[in-house]
Amino acid sequence: MLYLKALTAVTGLVASATAATLPRSFSQTKDNGFPKPSAQEILDISKAAGGKLPPGSLPTGLSPTSITTLQLIAFNELFEVAYFSSLLSNLTLNLDGYQIPSQAQSIEVVKAIRAQEQLHALGALAILETNNAFQPSSCEYAVPVTNFNDAVNLAEIFTAVVLGALQGANFNFANDAAAVPLVPLISSIIGQEGEQNGAYRQFLQRIPSESPFLTAVPAPFAFSALQGFVVPGSCPYPLSNINLPIFPALSVNGGPVALLQPGDQALTLSADLSSSDAAKAFVGGNGEGLFATFVTGQQAPYSVAAQNVKWSGSVVTFEATFPYTDLVAHGFSHVSLTTSNNFTDVNSIPGATLAAPGVIQVNNAV
Ligand SMILES: *[C@@H]1O[C@H](CO)[C@@H](O)[C@H](O)[C@H]1NC(C)=O
Ligand SMILES: *[C@@H]1O[C@H](CO)[C@@H](O)[C@H](O)[C@H]1NC(C)=O
Repeated sequence: MLYLKALTAVTGLVASATAATLPRSFSQTKDNGFPKPSAQEILDISKAAGGKLPPGSLPTGLSPTSITTLQLIAFNELFEVAYFSSLLSNLTLNLDGYQIPSQAQSIEVVKAIRAQEQLHALGALAILETNNAFQPSSCEYAVPVTNFNDAVNLAEIFTAVVLGALQGANFNFANDAAAVPLVPLISSIIGQEGEQNGAYRQFLQRIPSESPFLTAVPAPFAFSALQGFVVPGSCPYPLSNINLPIFPALSVNGGPVALLQPGDQALTLSADLSSSDAAKAFVGGNGEGLFATFVTGQQAPYSVAAQNVKWSGSVVTFEATFPYTDLVAHGFSHVSLTTSNNFTDVNSIPGATLAAPGVIQVNNAV
C-alpha cells in the first residue's frame, strides 16, 4: 500500500539527522535567470507558471509588521524555489527513487509549481525593494528526502505550515492601511498553495481537502520551522535582519514531524533549551508551569500539563497527551512548549513559548 509505504519511509527519514545539502545554485536557476530574471525571462517563467504577476504600482509606506511579514514570505518562497528545483532536477535526471510511473507528468507539474513559487518570491521581493526594505536572498538548504514519495510528503508538510502563516500575513496586511491591497493578492496565493497541497495529498492517498479550517501558524513558528531546512550559518546575511524570534526546535516522538494514526495518544517531546534565556528558570525543575500547547484548525489553543519532565543538562524531555478526539485533529496540528496554559488566541502563544513548533500530521487516509 502506497500509504503505508509513505508512512514508514517518512517516519524513518525525518528522524535521521543526515540530509544532503541542496546546492545554492538551485535557487539561481540558469534556465530562467531567477532570482534576477530579465523581462523576457519573467515572461518565460509566467508561461511556465500559467499566469503573470499583477500589473500596476506596488504599495509603499508599509508598516514594520507588514515588511517583516513580506520578508518571511520571501524567505519561505526562496526555500521552496530551491526545493522544487532540486525535485525537478532529480526527476529529469531520472535518479533512483524518482523513477515513478507518472514521471513525465510529474515533471510538468513540478515545472509549473516551481515557476509559480518563483513568481511568488519575485512579487514579495519587488514589494520589499519598493519599500527600501531588506530583501532576503537564498541560503543553502538541506532536506531529508531521497525519493519522490518522501519529497511530496515533505512538500505537503511545509505547504501546510505556509498556509497557516499566510492567514496571519493577511491579518497583518488588513491592519495596515498601506498594505490592504495585498490582502486579495495573498488570498489568491492561499488558494493556489491549497491547490498544491490537495494534489500532494491526493498523491499520498489522503483526503485532498484536509479539514474545514486550516491550522493557523504564528509567523515566529513558521520562521522557526523553516530553520530546520536551512544549513546553519549559510544565509548571506544575519537572520536577525528578519525581525522574528527563532525558537529551539521541539521534536515529537523523536523527529521534527510526527506522523500519527488518529486517536488520543501520549507523545514524547524534547527540546534543547540551552539557547533560551526564558527557559533558565525551569532547567532542572520538576516541570511545574510547563505545558504542551496544541493548535489545530481555527480552534482555541489547547494546553495540557507537561508530564514526566526529565532534564539532561538543558535538554528537556517530557510527555503530553495529544487531544485528538477533543480537537477532531485530522491533518496538520502543531505543538509548542509553553509557560502558560491560558491562551485565548494563537498569536499570543509565541510570547510564552520556550520551544516550537513540533509538527503533527494525522493521516486521514482514504
Ligand atoms: C534530490 O536528490 C538528492 C540526491 O538523492 C537528495 O539529496 C535531495 O534531497 C533530493 N531533493 C528532493 C527535493 O527530493
Ligand atoms: C488567564 O487569562 C486571563 C485573560 O488574560 C486572565 O484574566 C486570567 O487571570 C488568566 N488565568 C490564569 C490562571 O493565568
